[in-house]
Amino acid sequence: MIRLGVNIDHIATLRQARLEGFPDPALLAEEAIAGGADGIVCHLREDRRHVQDDDVIRLRKLPTRLDLEMAATSEMLKIALKIKPDMVTLVPEKRQEITTEGGLNAANQLKKLKLYVAKLQRAGIIVSLFVDPESKQIAAAAKVGAKFIEIHTGEYARGGSLVKVKQIVDKAVKLGLRVNAGHGLDYDNVKPIAAIPGVEELNIGFSIIARAVIVGLRQAVKEMKGAMEK
Ligand code: PXP
Repeated sequence: MIRLGVNIDHIATLRQARLEGFPDPALLAEEAIAGGADGIVCHLREDRRHVQDDDVIRLRKLPTRLDLEMAATSEMLKIALKIKPDMVTLVPEKRQEITTEGGLNAANQLKKLKLYVAKLQRAGIIVSLFVDPESKQIAAAAKVGAKFIEIHTGEYARGGSLVKVKQIVDKAVKLGLRVNAGHGLDYDNVKPIAAIPGVEELNIGFSIIARAVIVGLRQAVKEMKGAMEK
């Protein structure tokens, strides 16, 4: 059955808006797990605009899978090797962006990524590359030795082609890659992506946290699991 990774960044966004000690992403992650989350995802950004280093340390102690999204920098490598999340998802990062805008351009940094991925994998961390649904990017992900890709579904979520995502999943699986997907998924658009054979996990944040304001996080996660599996 397809898994749901709940991205808790925006719990931290709310906390940082007032620089308070609450709401606490690590505490609320337990609510997400109680609602049926199969893992927790967080993005430690270079500018620390939401998730902080201490959040990641505390999230790691929870009895669930942790997927750390990060840029492929030397600072983040040190942190990942210390914290040892179950998975690292490498993402591109621009300071001015509101959220991760596009996938990683793996094709134009093969040498750098090959070394970077190897360092993480030697430490027992599974590496996933967040890429746009483009053949050259998945080919590059396979070349640099990543075990997983996460397909950027932002374009699909804005009314783009489902077929394009399906075809890329198929190609990726044929190349021996394992496939996750995420970005922009919500209660109305998630089902067709969840139904694609070969997609193992969806990573969803904003829509779940926004729904949680109304119904609470446990219920919001439960509803998303329902929307995925209906
Ligand atoms: N996957 C990746 C790699 C992301 O960067 C994000 C956004 O932080 C998500 C999934 C979740 O996207 P959304 O918040 O739109 O559900």
